[in-house]
Amino acid sequence: MKATASMLAASALAAAGLLALALSPCPAWADAAANVTGAVPVMKDGAQVYQHVCQGCHMPDGKGAVGTATIPALAGNPKLASAGYPAQVIVHGYGGMPFFNGYLSDTQVADVVNYIRSHFGNNFTDKLTPDDVKPLRADAPVVEMP
Ligand code: HEC
Repeated sequence: MKATASMLAASALAAAGLLALALSPCPAWADAAANVTGAVPVMKDGAQVYQHVCQGCHMPDGKGAVGTATIPALAGNPKLASAGYPAQVIVHGYGGMPFFNGYLSDTQVADVVNYIRSHFGNNFTDKLTPDDVKPLRADAPVVEMP
């Protein structure tokens, strides 16, 4: 019984993955969020969060892309001047971007915000802390993890 249940779960996840792929406006990066169907890999710093979760859409160089959807560049993006703005976008989602509340921890959100604000030619030096992220979650939708 246990094997059957987990096989069913595995095929449901595989189907969800295919559906996500088919609907995804992003190129099919192997580790894009849309393709994560098993345990979430441990993401220990902002670079790892970016690589696993963000770069499938925003591209490894942070320059975004124009295809089925327009993915804004994070490189040289003046809206990153306020650290609260990207944190809000990540926790709540924004237009075509999914929300990550329930998927990323306060520390992971702070880490990736600090990462994108200090890479891709961005040089903002003030840091967001996990405590800054916590209050943003109050009225945000939540990703239900299996
Ligand atoms: C599924 C694709 C996708 C993923 C994954 C994704 N984004 Fe986005 N992101 C978008 C799209 C599309 C927009 C533009 C939304 C709009 O304008 O409707 C956007 C917008 C943004 C913005 C606002 C930019 C602006 O100029 O207003 C920021 C900041 C951002 N994303 C950061 C991130 C970070 C950091 C991650 C990883 C934690 C991430 N995104 C993951 C698709 C994605």
